[in-house]
Amino acid sequence: MKNIYKPIEGVLENIITESSKIKTFVIRPKERFDFKCGQFIELTLPGIGEAPFTPSSDPAVKEKIDVTIMNAGKVTSLLHNSPKNISLGIRGPYGKGYPLHKFEGKDVLIVGGGVGLAPLRALLFGLFADINKYNKIVFRYGARTAQDIIYKDQIPVWAAKERVDWLTTVDVGDPSWTGHVGLITTVLNDLPIDMKKAVAIVCGPPIMMKFVTLKLLDLGFAPADIYLSMEKSMSCGLGKCGHCRIGKFYICKDGPVFTYEELKDTHDIWD
Ligand SMILES: Cc1cc2nc3c(=O)[nH]c(=O)nc-3n(C[C@H](O)[C@H](O)[C@H](O)COP(=O)(O)OP(=O)(O)OC[C@H]3O[C@@H](n4cnc5c(N)ncnc54)[C@H](O)[C@@H]3O)c2cc1C
Ligand code: FES
Repeated sequence: MKNIYKPIEGVLENIITESSKIKTFVIRPKERFDFKCGQFIELTLPGIGEAPFTPSSDPAVKEKIDVTIMNAGKVTSLLHNSPKNISLGIRGPYGKGYPLHKFEGKDVLIVGGGVGLAPLRALLFGLFADINKYNKIVFRYGARTAQDIIYKDQIPVWAAKERVDWLTTVDVGDPSWTGHVGLITTVLNDLPIDMKKAVAIVCGPPIMMKFVTLKLLDLGFAPADIYLSMEKSMSCGLGKCGHCRIGKFYICKDGPVFTYEELKDTHDIWD
């Protein structure tokens, strides 16, 4: 019988520094690895531990997986200090990804904060693969400062694409930054979208997701049209240990992508 906890082996082929706290790890799995945008993996640092991450690479690319990781604690700081070519374990993919078919024919508003842009990069690749199916993609990305912006070389390429309307804002400006300054909620007014046929996708730190969701509700978005990427401490990743429970849901199995409609009556979803 297949051991569902046994990771497949991968080699850490490259490490890209995105900002002082965020790096992208390019992993070449030794077996073919398929995932859908929004699904997550458990990444094992052998002998140390494992942690959940959402791949940030193009799901259509099968021979490598990018995972963009913020240095947050034990596993992530050891990863940040790892050399190339070490062996890593990959379990998954787990959870439900973004329901792309529900976005077809719609204006797709995507709101990302900080390292939340990582899972959204995989989503963008998924949307770009069939861009004519979507009316337009309106992206609003917020970083703390200009130095914290990730994927700096790629954003201008995505922003220049047809059907894409992109705006980056930073919380705190400096002389090197000529773009918008202000919290992410300040760039959600006057959106070039038709609210009657729009969906919103939000990914970022809990506090950002909370205030963006409240703003979107204010703007007239229906709770069922707001998609949230939820995060909680995890262990099994398989709906068995109960670590990731919120209300009646297991984030690993029932999510990590939920509509606000599903979660709105659940207590403390932003903790
Ligand atoms: C489905 C899912 C997808 C994720 N995708 C990404 C990603 O693409 N990139 C990325 O950088 N991070 C992502 N995370 C968060 C990542 O899993 C945590 O940062 C990581 O587990 C921290 O592990 P650590 O051993 O380095 O830190 P620890 O030493 O375990 O903890 C450091 C601090 O972070 C807190 N923490 C630990 N785990 C989590 C968690 N899962 N959520 C929130 N706080 C936590 C702890 O309470 C502690 O305060 C994701 C989390 C989930 C659940
Ligand atoms: S992580 Fe074990 S039930 Fe979700």
